[in-house]
Amino acid sequence: MYQVGIFGEKLSHSLSPVFQNVAFEYCEIQALYEIWELSPDQLLERVNLLRQSNTLGANVTIPYKELAYNMVDELDETALQIGAINTIVNNSGVLKGYNTDITGFIRSLKEVASFLPSGKNVLILGAGGAARAAIFGLLNENVNSITVANRTEGRAVKMLDDFGVNKEIFKTMSIYDKNLTQVSLNSDLIINATSVGMQHSEMEDETLLSAHQIPRNCVVYDIVYNPLLTPLLKNAQIAGAEIMQGLWMLIFQGVDSFELWTGKSAPVQKMYKKAMETFDSQH
Ligand code: ATR
Repeated sequence: MYQVGIFGEKLSHSLSPVFQNVAFEYCEIQALYEIWELSPDQLLERVNLLRQSNTLGANVTIPYKELAYNMVDELDETALQIGAINTIVNNSGVLKGYNTDITGFIRSLKEVASFLPSGKNVLILGAGGAARAAIFGLLNENVNSITVANRTEGRAVKMLDDFGVNKEIFKTMSIYDKNLTQVSLNSDLIINATSVGMQHSEMEDETLLSAHQIPRNCVVYDIVYNPLLTPLLKNAQIAGAEIMQGLWMLIFQGVDSFELWTGKSAPVQKMYKKAMETFDSQH
């Protein structure tokens, strides 16, 4: 039996074991995906155990994505550029780090929403880690423009400075700017990478865009996946836009990880269905 699992701090609600184990079963791979909760001082020792021949690798989640980046032997190009990993592959004792949050996000847009980013105008709400991953992925996709709107505009400016490339395609603005509506109505893709709309938060009933601020010919992707249908996505539906639920980002980072570990094509729909069922039973 092969071993694989996820490193993190608080993992009791993680959906990854559920949909990864379904994929292993479906592909008839004798592997078990486990939860590996640990403290920061245990991480290095645990990462080194991944070199064992019966271990496929691991996923890495909050708060270890940057720490683990420094613990692997090799890095994939995307991971190297962003400085964080969420996937480790054990290649006969040599550990290679990848970032499938980024590759999976772009792949989900293409495969689920049939959205091809090239030449498109993108509005990103937020300037934290999730926004960074989305922007990073889009940078390789030849988009026409990326506008980052954040509550604290200075944070958006700083994030884009950190990227330091393709400056002419970027703009920043405050979410309170009256031009937000115009920018939004000119967007082909709107991504919510803020925590607004998240269940059990102070902003769970809130949304940064109302239905009349969302164009019809647009994809609205909410990185928040709890609830599955956020207030923003409800408004997008009212506007007649196509919606992408945050669960897809979670599934596709897992799809890319699975394919890196096994070399096999992941059963995407089966993984999604199982994740949905489990999510529903937990809520
Ligand atoms: P993550 O890593 O999940 O992106 P984060 O780094 O804490 O998390 O970023 C959260 C994002 O949600 C930020 O863009 C934050 O805006 P600020 O940079 O101004 O803090 C945004 N956010 C959180 N609460 C918000 C609110 N009530 N209204 C608007 N934006 C909010």
